[in-house]
Amino acid sequence: MLHTVKHSTAHILIFTMTTWTGLLFFISSILSPALCIDWFSRYSHQSNISLTLISIMGGPMTDEESPVSFPYKLYRHIRRTEVQTQLVFIRESLNHIFELYHCGNLSSVTWDTSKTHHFLQSIHRQKTDLSKCVLSTKSENGRLKNYYRRLARKTLYRTAFSSASWELIRKVTEQHLEHLDLLVNSMRASAAASRRSSGPRPQKD
Ligand SMILES: *[C@@H]1O[C@H](CO)[C@@H](O)[C@H](O)[C@H]1NC(C)=O
Ligand SMILES: *[C@@H]1O[C@H](CO)[C@@H](O)[C@H](O)[C@H]1NC(C)=O
Repeated sequence: MLHTVKHSTAHILIFTMTTWTGLLFFISSILSPALCIDWFSRYSHQSNISLTLISIMGGPMTDEESPVSFPYKLYRHIRRTEVQTQLVFIRESLNHIFELYHCGNLSSVTWDTSKTHHFLQSIHRQKTDLSKCVLSTKSENGRLKNYYRRLARKTLYRTAFSSASWELIRKVTEQHLEHLDLLVNSMRASAAASRRSSGPRPQKD
């Protein structure tokens, strides 16, 4: 009897996991599952909107190189950490990106005002959705904070918010959004892998 109950509970869980690409199983014990499912289920769409807007809100991306090298190592490190740390990292990244634009003087940019506004709204929305899912009050990632501070100092602040420095920031932002996308995809992949190794899949009926 007890065995049967356990068994069907497992089936319901596995069914839900299948529906939500395996992530519920992965996160259910540490976070606010329902709100995380909301975020994960909307993520691809939201991320697509942000990436589309940043690409079309201005002209072609600049060929200039950023004076601050991209933190590939930090992303590689985050890939090896636990899900909760990864979610906090994504939330903080979105927050740093939002603050760059929100606190900066945008008067020199030639971007489409309405698309730029929508882009910032899309970042803000993702950040807000994710904040509802991540319960952790873990202290912020110092390396990430230093990186964004250095980035702002060596581009925007150094040139008093020149148009060229904003173009660099836009290009670097796109790179970050792409890497966050890769990170979320790798989280999905590990969740799917842990689902496969946790037992046989339920039969459809
Ligand atoms: C967004 O989604 C559309 C439709 O699926 C796709 O054609 C496009 O390449 C995507 N854009 C980005 C930046 O991922
Ligand atoms: C923003 O920058 C412009 C020049 O690009 C300057 O004229 C304006 O005063 C600045 N605004 C603020 C609030 O600093």
